[in-house]
Amino acid sequence: MKIKKGISLIDQHDKFGMWGPYGGNFLPETLKKPVSDLEKLFEKLRNNRKFVNEWNYHLRNFIGTPTSFVKLENLSNHLGGAQIYAKVVSEAKGGAHKCYSALTHAMLCKYSNRDTLATDTAAGYNGKTFSIMAKHFGLKLKVFMGIKDIKRQKPNCDAMKANGATIIPVTTGGQGLCEAVSELMRYWVSNCDRVHVGTGSTVGANIFIKICGWSVSQISKELKTQILNEFGEIPKKLKLLNCVGGGSSSFGLWNSFMDYNKQQVEFIGVEAGGPARSKLHAAPLSHGAKIGVLHGSMQRCLMDKDGQILPTHSISAGLDYAGISPLHCYLQDQQRARYVSQTDEQALSAYKLVTKYESQKVSPSLEPAHAFAYAIKIAPKLSKDTVLVVNSCGDSFKDKHIIKKRLGKYIR
Ligand SMILES: Cc1ncc(COP(=O)(O)O)c(C=O)c1O
Repeated sequence: MKIKKGISLIDQHDKFGMWGPYGGNFLPETLKKPVSDLEKLFEKLRNNRKFVNEWNYHLRNFIGTPTSFVKLENLSNHLGGAQIYAKVVSEAKGGAHKCYSALTHAMLCKYSNRDTLATDTAAGYNGKTFSIMAKHFGLKLKVFMGIKDIKRQKPNCDAMKANGATIIPVTTGGQGLCEAVSELMRYWVSNCDRVHVGTGSTVGANIFIKICGWSVSQISKELKTQILNEFGEIPKKLKLLNCVGGGSSSFGLWNSFMDYNKQQVEFIGVEAGGPARSKLHAAPLSHGAKIGVLHGSMQRCLMDKDGQILPTHSISAGLDYAGISPLHCYLQDQQRARYVSQTDEQALSAYKLVTKYESQKVSPSLEPAHAFAYAIKIAPKLSKDTVLVVNSCGDSFKDKHIIKKRLGKYIR
C-alpha cells in the first residue's frame, strides 16, 4: 500500500479500516452497531451541503478562522538561517486546534438527536473546546480527565466548569490521557444510545480518526492559501513542524500538502522526549515503539514485552500519551513524515526564547514549545530560502503555573 495522490489520507484505509498495518476497529461487540451508525451518519453528513455550510459558518463566525500566519522576524534574525513562521492556531476559539473537531462532534450529536456529549482531555483544551461547543449547541457534556492532568491544567478545568461541563476524574494507572480515553470508551459501551462520544485526537477506532482528521484538515487548507498569498507559490524548501501527541494538530497542518514530494514540503513531527536524563518519555515513533492495540486501533505504542502499556511522562500534558495515531504510524512507514523528540527542558528553553523575541505575535503552550525547540535547533543550519512553519497550536496561559515553577516567572 502506498499513499495515493488526490485523496485525503483519512479515506485511504482498506475495508477493515486499516492504513497498512495500522488502524482498524478493535472494539467490544456492543460497540459494533454504534460505530457502524456513526460511520453512516458521518459519511452522509460530510457530503450534505446543509451540514457542511453550517459547519463552515460556525468555523468563520464562532471559531474565528482563519487563524493568523505570521513571520517571526526577530527570532529568525536572532538564529540566522531559515525564515521561521508561525501558524497561530491558538487564536481559534478556546485557544487550540481542538475546537475544529469539537464543533463537528457537537453538530453530529445534534444531528443524531442526542443531548449529551462525552470526551477525553489531557491538556484540557479538548475538554474546554467541547464545553464551549456544548454550551453553544445546548448540550450536556462529560469530560474524562486523569487526576494528574486535573492538577496541572487548572485554568482549562476552570473554563470547562464555567461552561457547565462535568469533569470525571480518572484515577486508574498513570492517571493521564491514556487512562482517560480508556474510561471514555468504557462509559460509551453502556451509554451509546443516548451519548455521542468524540475522542480528543486522531485516535480511537477508525471513525474517530476520520472525524477528527476531516475537521482539523481545515488548518492546512487555511495555511496553503496563506502561504500562496505570502510567497506567490509553495516554496521550494518548506518544512512544516508540529508537536505530536495523538497526532491531530500535525495531521491538520499537513493534510493539504500531502501530494507534494518531501524534498519540497517536509513534515516533521516532534514528540515529547520527557525529562532529560530520565528514561521516561512519550515518544513512540521516534523511539521505535512496537505495534499493539490501544483504544480500538492498531498503532505503535509504548508497552512492555507482555504488551502492557508503559507509563509516560512529559511536561506537556497534551503530549503525554503512550500511543499515536495510526495515520502517523503509516506516514512514518511511508517515509512521508519524520519524527524526532525534544525534552521537557528543550521545550521550556524554546518557550523562553520565543517569548523573548516574539511575545507580541505568539505565546506557545508547552506542547507547541516542543516543535519550536526543534525549529530553533535546525534553523541556523538551514539556508535563508528555507521556510519553517511551526504550528503554535496552544496558548501558554494554561501552563502558567508550570512555567512559573520551572522558570521562576511566567512571561507573556
Ligand atoms: C495545545 C495542544 N497541542 C498538542 C496536543 C497534542 O495532541 P495532538 O497531537 O492530537 O494535536 C494537545 C493535546 O491535548 C494540545 O492541547
